[in-house]
Amino acid sequence: MPTYIVLLGPPGSGKGTQAKIVSEQLGLVHISSGDIFRYNISQQTELGMKAQGFMNRGELVPDDLTIAMIRDRLSQPDCNRGAILDGFPRTPAQAEALDATLAGLGGKVDSVPYIHVSPEILMERLGGRWSCRAQGHVYHEKYHPPKTAGICDIDGSELFQREDDQPATVEKRIKVYLEQTSPLIEYYRKRGLLYEIDGTREIEDVTAEMMKAVGKG
Ligand code: AP5
Repeated sequence: MPTYIVLLGPPGSGKGTQAKIVSEQLGLVHISSGDIFRYNISQQTELGMKAQGFMNRGELVPDDLTIAMIRDRLSQPDCNRGAILDGFPRTPAQAEALDATLAGLGGKVDSVPYIHVSPEILMERLGGRWSCRAQGHVYHEKYHPPKTAGICDIDGSELFQREDDQPATVEKRIKVYLEQTSPLIEYYRKRGLLYEIDGTREIEDVTAEMMKAVGKG
């Protein structure tokens, strides 16, 4: 049976940071909807051009585009053991579509680690975030600095700051999260899948909780 893990949490809670670590430890594919959109924008694909305006404004990309993109990604052969989903689902309609897609693949959502962090900390985290151009490795100028400023420790590529990490856009993203995504906390709690994690702890401590959440702690 494939294993599917849904990572839930507000923007900046550490989903991407943890998904990279845990996907390597578990040997599962890491699927980040934000990274796939950013790749499409960089390649100026039709999907990228449709998504760009929504992302720059801190709004969600419409469900139909997002669901089709993730359905396609999950059907690829490298996902046959399962995947860690980072940033998807983000609306009840996406969660229902995910359930249907996984049922079609002979699987289901197995666990939902929910990383929670207060809005004040999120603002500080996103304001100091630097991401690697080649593979999306994530750093923070204060909490997780690279050895050499501006260069990724892992693959040597350039580090950059995301356009949507400007303070006004971060505020909008947090508002959108509270209005549109936070209902998923109850959606998964009711199904007995939610595992709450204090995201204000050190990165390694959060990883240890993540492993417990997926039954490997
Ligand atoms: P997306 O790329 O998914 O962004 P997000 O959910 O807003 O999450 P972030 O990537 O900003 O944060 P994160 O939780 O991964 O935190 P990170 O690990 O980087 O989405 C971007 C946009 O794409 C959306 O706004 C939307 O437009 C669109 N989109 C994507 N998915 C969509 C969907 N399903 N439907 C519709 N639209 C969609 O950590 C943040 C910082 O904190 C880093 O600097 C890191 O080093 C640091 N940090 C991490 N953990 C710790 C710790 N424990 N202590 C101290 N610092 C830490």
